[in-house]
Amino acid sequence: MVRYRTWLRPGRLYPIVVLTALSLAGCALGVLNRWFLLFLLPLSAFGYVSVILLGSAYRLGPGGAQRRIHELIASQVPGGRVLDIGCGSGSLAITIARRCPDATVTGIDSWGPGWHYSRQLCEENARVSGVTVRFERGSGAALDFPDAAFDVVVSCMTFHEIRDKADCVREALRVLRPGGRFVFVDPFADPAYYPTPPRLPGSSCPLGDLVDLPFPLRHPKVLGRVLLLAGLREH
Ligand SMILES: C[S@@+](CC[C@H](N)C(=O)[O-])C[C@H]1O[C@@H](n2cnc3c(N)ncnc32)[C@H](O)[C@@H]1O
Repeated sequence: MVRYRTWLRPGRLYPIVVLTALSLAGCALGVLNRWFLLFLLPLSAFGYVSVILLGSAYRLGPGGAQRRIHELIASQVPGGRVLDIGCGSGSLAITIARRCPDATVTGIDSWGPGWHYSRQLCEENARVSGVTVRFERGSGAALDFPDAAFDVVVSCMTFHEIRDKADCVREALRVLRPGGRFVFVDPFADPAYYPTPPRLPGSSCPLGDLVDLPFPLRHPKVLGRVLLLAGLREH
């Protein structure tokens, strides 16, 4: 069975859920002494964040929005030599390989600590899905490929993870051949990540206009500021 993981890091989710549970337990002790009701304050704050995070994990999860977003990106890939930057557990690269049997698909990722993704997981998912995808460890900020090595470059929710986002976009376009197609999904409209959004040839569209994003995925801190940028590399 394929095992795709959600985009939420467990290291960020678990502490908030534990703090919510502790605040709730503190409130329950209000039957002994009303001073315990002061726990209502942290409960409201942690509880709100917990609802957003747990709701997002559920909505993104298997068969949820992540799969639909990967299908959307894959539907814009014509085939050829395809690179997925930050391939995670391999879901997007494998979706492309399934839709375009003649494509040569490569996925790279740093698979750093804090993520529950790995190269082995990607390879196992590709094997179970019956497709061939080459997975390699590498950094999106300095790709180990020659110029113009790919016909298509895609990336989904990865650039914002990398410190120098401008380098990633430059690198992605460097390995794309002139006239080749790029499809990037990232919170490009979030000034916290992109004080200066990249200016690329082609179209820019809020993800929520292209895919049904139920609550809480439209929240600005979840996918509300995510754009899909797509176009052709100029010569
Ligand atoms: C939110 S996940 C998205 C995974 C995948 N693109 C997807 O759509 O399922 C972000 C990914 O960025 C990867 N990542 C973080 N820093 C990276 C870097 N410097 N180079 C390549 N990948 C990186 C992480 O390992 C993780 O797999």
